[in-house]
Amino acid sequence: MTAATTLHDVTVVSNEPAAEGLVRVVLSAPALAAALEPGQFVNLAVPGDASQILRIPLSFSRADAAGGTFEIVYAVVGDGTRRLSRMRPGDATTAVGPCGNPWPLPVGAARACVVAGGVGVTPIVACARMLAASGTAFDAVVGAQTAARLWGTAELAALGAGEVAVTTDDGTAGRRGFTTDALAELLAARSYDVVYACGPEVMMAGVARLCREAGTRCLVSMERMMCCGFGACGTCNVAMADGTYKSCCKDGPVFDAEEVAW
Ligand SMILES: Cc1cc2nc3c(=O)[nH]c(=O)nc-3n(C[C@H](O)[C@H](O)[C@H](O)COP(=O)(O)OP(=O)(O)OC[C@H]3O[C@@H](n4cnc5c(N)ncnc54)[C@H](O)[C@@H]3O)c2cc1C
Ligand code: FES
Repeated sequence: MTAATTLHDVTVVSNEPAAEGLVRVVLSAPALAAALEPGQFVNLAVPGDASQILRIPLSFSRADAAGGTFEIVYAVVGDGTRRLSRMRPGDATTAVGPCGNPWPLPVGAARACVVAGGVGVTPIVACARMLAASGTAFDAVVGAQTAARLWGTAELAALGAGEVAVTTDDGTAGRRGFTTDALAELLAARSYDVVYACGPEVMMAGVARLCREAGTRCLVSMERMMCCGFGACGTCNVAMADGTYKSCCKDGPVFDAEEVAW
């Protein structure tokens, strides 16, 4: 049972570069940090521009209930994330959360694989923490455009990933290619009970196809433009394979890949 979604006061603890174009922010909000489950997200207000009233939906990579903090790795892509990157320790704001549904734990699974593309690595590191805490063995695939934009490989290795396969578009780290190339090889060599994926939608569609062919369950974390973040406004619809729509913020962001109309 997930905690109720409410408004929380949040204070910036640190906000430092994690890789090229990526920033790691640690936020203090004890009740929220204690309530967050891997795969859920927060809807964060970023002060500094009164004309921007929308919050920014962001997943987290680590929640420390004892310390009252949680960590988000985010890409600076537009005005809101640029303003967020300028926030300094001690700055205050608010977050709505916890939002959405968490990654489900595998039921009696012997081995899982986590697949991250770009900044999709944020909820995937949280997923790996969940797997490690439950004693589930897992491998990881992490892809980025280039070596300088990679984050999360050290975290995944430290969490006990059996193998961390790295791919970059330009071959500057790991193998040159896409995460789906590395996943196809792992699926051919090993048997997984479940694959967890987050990244660009085209990547997740490819991961879903490979898993279907291998007969492996696949869970994906989807992204949509969002306004409210808790199911009230209808902006974040995801088309389902059965012709219906579900809200990314309330019914997701985690979906079984077989449910989604790719
Ligand atoms: C559930 C969820 C979890 C997310 N977790 C993370 C995370 O952990 N780290 C991270 O870096 N980003 C994450 N995102 C994406 C993040 O919300 C957007 O990058 C952010 O809202 C962009 O805001 P902006 O004002 O900087 O950019 P804008 O100026 O609003 O837009 C810049 C670019 O980002 C795109 N964009 C804007 N909002 C979204 C969105 N909600 N989803 C996808 N693309 C968007 C726009 O289409 C545009 O191309 C998540 C999104 C969702 C829905
Ligand atoms: S963002 Fe409002 S319903 Fe999902």
